[in-house]
Amino acid sequence: MTETVKIEIYANNLDETQAIATKLAQIVTAGTIILLEGNLGSGKTTFMQAFGRALGISTTITSPTFTLIDEYTEGRLPLYHIDLYRLEHPQVPSLHLEEYWRGEDFPLGVVAIEWASKLLVIPPQHLKINLAIPLQASPMRSPEKQSPHLETSPNEDEEFLEDLPEERLIQLIAQGSAYVALLNQADFSNFQRRRR
Ligand SMILES: Nc1ncnc2c1ncn2[C@@H]1O[C@H](COP(=O)(O)OP(=O)(O)OP(=O)(O)O)[C@@H](O)[C@H]1O
Ligand SMILES: [Mg+2]
Repeated sequence: MTETVKIEIYANNLDETQAIATKLAQIVTAGTIILLEGNLGSGKTTFMQAFGRALGISTTITSPTFTLIDEYTEGRLPLYHIDLYRLEHPQVPSLHLEEYWRGEDFPLGVVAIEWASKLLVIPPQHLKINLAIPLQASPMRSPEKQSPHLETSPNEDEEFLEDLPEERLIQLIAQGSAYVALLNQADFSNFQRRRR
C-alpha cells in the first residue's frame, strides 16, 4: 500500500510562496522527484526559482518552456527543471526523463517537472505540488483572457500575469514513504491553512 500525505498551505503573497519553496529546498535529498501542477501563471516556475536559490543556484532559473529541460549543477544538489507544456503526450517518452532519477547517466539530484500531467508514466513515488489561485481571488477578466491562446507561450502573456492576485493555495502531496517522511520533516505550520 502506498503511503500518502497531503498538506494544504495558504500563501497570501509571493513572499510566502518563496518561503515555502525555500523550506522545501532545505530538506530535499538527491533523487527527489517533484511534479508541479497548476494553471498558467499559478506560480510553478516562480516556486522553482525560489527553490533553486535556496539550493544555492545563483543563475536565475527561467522557464524551460522552450528548452524543455534545464540543468543546474552549482547548488547543494543538481536541479533538473523540466517543462512539458509544449509537448504532446506521445512525445514525452522520447525525453527519457527516467534517466534523471535512475542516477546512472546523470548525478542524482532533484527532478522538477512542470505540467507533469503530460507524463504517460508517473513515477510511483513523488512529491506533487499543486498551485492554484483561490476562486475568490481570481480577477475579473475579459473573455479572451479567460482562455489564454495555447499557441503562444504562456510566459509571453505578460499582461495576463500582471492581472493575477498574489494569493495561492498550495497543496503538497507526498506519494510513497520517503516523500511522506520528507513532508513530516518539514515544518509548514506557519503557513498551513492560514489566511489573512
Ligand atoms: N503568491 C504567489 N506565488 C507565486 N507566484 C505569484 C504569487 N503572487 C504573484 N505571483 C506571480 O504570478 C506569476 C506566476 O508565473 P509563473 O511563470 O511562475 O507561473 P507558471 O505556473 O510557471 O506558469 P506556466 O504554466 O506559464 O509555466 C509570476 O509573475 C509571479 O510573480
Ligand atoms: Mg512555468
